[in-house]
Amino acid sequence: MNKLQRLRIGVFDSGVGGLTVWRELRRRLPQESILYFGDTARLPYGDRSASEILQFVREILTWMQGEGVKMAIFACNTSSALALNIARREFALPCLGVILPGARAAVQQGCRIGVLATPATAASDAYRQAIHEIAPHVAVWQVGCPEFVPLIEQNRVHDPYTRQVAQRYLQPLLAQRIDTLVYGCTHYPHLARVLRSLLPATVRLIDPAQSVVTAAERELELLGLKNTKPPLPDRFGVSGDPQTFAQFAQQWLGRAVTVETVRLPAIAPAYLELPD
Ligand code: DGL
Repeated sequence: MNKLQRLRIGVFDSGVGGLTVWRELRRRLPQESILYFGDTARLPYGDRSASEILQFVREILTWMQGEGVKMAIFACNTSSALALNIARREFALPCLGVILPGARAAVQQGCRIGVLATPATAASDAYRQAIHEIAPHVAVWQVGCPEFVPLIEQNRVHDPYTRQVAQRYLQPLLAQRIDTLVYGCTHYPHLARVLRSLLPATVRLIDPAQSVVTAAERELELLGLKNTKPPLPDRFGVSGDPQTFAQFAQQWLGRAVTVETVRLPAIAPAYLELPD
């Protein structure tokens, strides 16, 4: 057995959004161990600039490498859109993002695709580009939803106000008669009930968490990195308040979790920007 096989898979997001990926990983790859990080001190990521996101991702991946991970899953669309390609060149670590797997799943379902995403992901046009690389004739509409992540992080999913906000964001997509809706932010599956209740029953919902886990499984297989030994204990870390995160995680995952406070390494912005 290769020594790397038993290492954890690193999974990160700005906050609780990546738990939607965590849950899917746990369900589908029970033999794997996970190191989860939520950058809760700096969320939301969705209105940050590309250079800020890249800097955050560099810090997170450097920390994860120090902790010993065999793969990193960007369980965050914003960092997948803005930093994945550069991080792949800079780090000797297999890195997977959620956008390409999400786009692949969407084109299998429909040809009028709506994407709800953070303002940064919507502005990056990453979903349209990924979808059009696979299926150039599919119509894509992306809507930036600045209010969703703060509402979810404040645990206001069932608040009537959240429903009004969702109605507002869905309106332009419903006007286009979409047949498929992509959760273009890993936080949004937490709103599944609200969104489902506002959509016609014929609209299919795509959660990229499912397809990224399929991609991760394939990648582990290809790289000979699948764990065959008893898994290590899962770890959860955050840059902000561990208590708040632990409460949400317990609600969502249905089990108590211990959450560590993580101090990410300071990295000079130019340090990893040297040409390859
Ligand atoms: N859940 C992340 C995403 O998929 C980040 C959201 C945010 O912090 O704005 O984009």
